[in-house]
Amino acid sequence: MSRHFLALHDYTKIELDGLLALAAELKNKQKSGVPHKLLDGKTVALIFEKASTRTRVSFEVGVFQLGGHALFMPSGSSQMGRGEPIKDSARVMARYCDGVMIRTFGQAIVDEFAKHSDIPVINGLTDLFHPCQIMADLQTVIEHKKSYTGLKFAWIGDGNNMANTWIEAAAIFGFELRLACPVGYEPDQAVMAWAQAKAPGLITLTADPKAAVIGADVINTDVWASMGQEAEQKEREKSFVGYCLDDALLALAQPDCIVLHCLPAHRGEEISDAVIEGKHSVVWDEAENRLHIQKAIMAYLIGGASGAQ
Ligand code: CP
Ligand code: NVA
Repeated sequence: MSRHFLALHDYTKIELDGLLALAAELKNKQKSGVPHKLLDGKTVALIFEKASTRTRVSFEVGVFQLGGHALFMPSGSSQMGRGEPIKDSARVMARYCDGVMIRTFGQAIVDEFAKHSDIPVINGLTDLFHPCQIMADLQTVIEHKKSYTGLKFAWIGDGNNMANTWIEAAAIFGFELRLACPVGYEPDQAVMAWAQAKAPGLITLTADPKAAVIGADVINTDVWASMGQEAEQKEREKSFVGYCLDDALLALAQPDCIVLHCLPAHRGEEISDAVIEGKHSVVWDEAENRLHIQKAIMAYLIGGASGAQ
């Protein structure tokens, strides 16, 4: 049976640390022109039921750099988009390909696909989780702060797929995470309960962005309306007043704090132009690291690379 990458909670801290180390190693190799064709002769299908820039490009380029072939499958161009059962699609894809990445809506869709797949399935974002992104974020934190250990993380904004995945990461890696979400926009309750049980006291939730940001080393935010929630944009703008990560809010954090945003960003909504373009912002390194961490995940799951001990 294949191992998948559907949610961080399926992995131990040691395994995820191993993937981060492998990502750093592959990044060095790529920068210094050392070949690392760990997917030589392999094909990875990339299924997209939502839009993407970073995920699509970083996976496609990553597979190419690893010596494999990426197959871009946007929604609407496959029979899955016309209602072919997920389990049938999963079994057929496994007869041709060596791995699959899926970006879709419900987590149940990737779980169902993976259940029937003889090849590794990677979650490229669902409504519930965005695990590749948080791994890229942690790689970025390690690069800028040497380690995530002992740092205070803050989440400002919607209790969405990013927030849920940060909650899992805090519980697994063991760092403090303070989330500020407006009332009615809290993270997933089951994810929160799982994390609180695994790491009691590490994760706190407030509706006051200032309280979350005070003394923080790493501050993270994301759009107020995620993909699929576009119709709620106006209503959400009213609920998220006071949640813009601007210079005034940032002044409460550590003077050497770093700012993360998975992108795409809505300047003037969840983050000010001055902050995203300012000296604390590491969002371009963060976007680049999607490439390196996903290469590590694919090399480990599909290419048989060690690294995740
Ligand atoms: N951060 C991220 O996943 O970006 P895309 O939606 O462009 O893939
Ligand atoms: N929360 C955002 C992340 C985009 C990368 C969304 O799901 O649309």
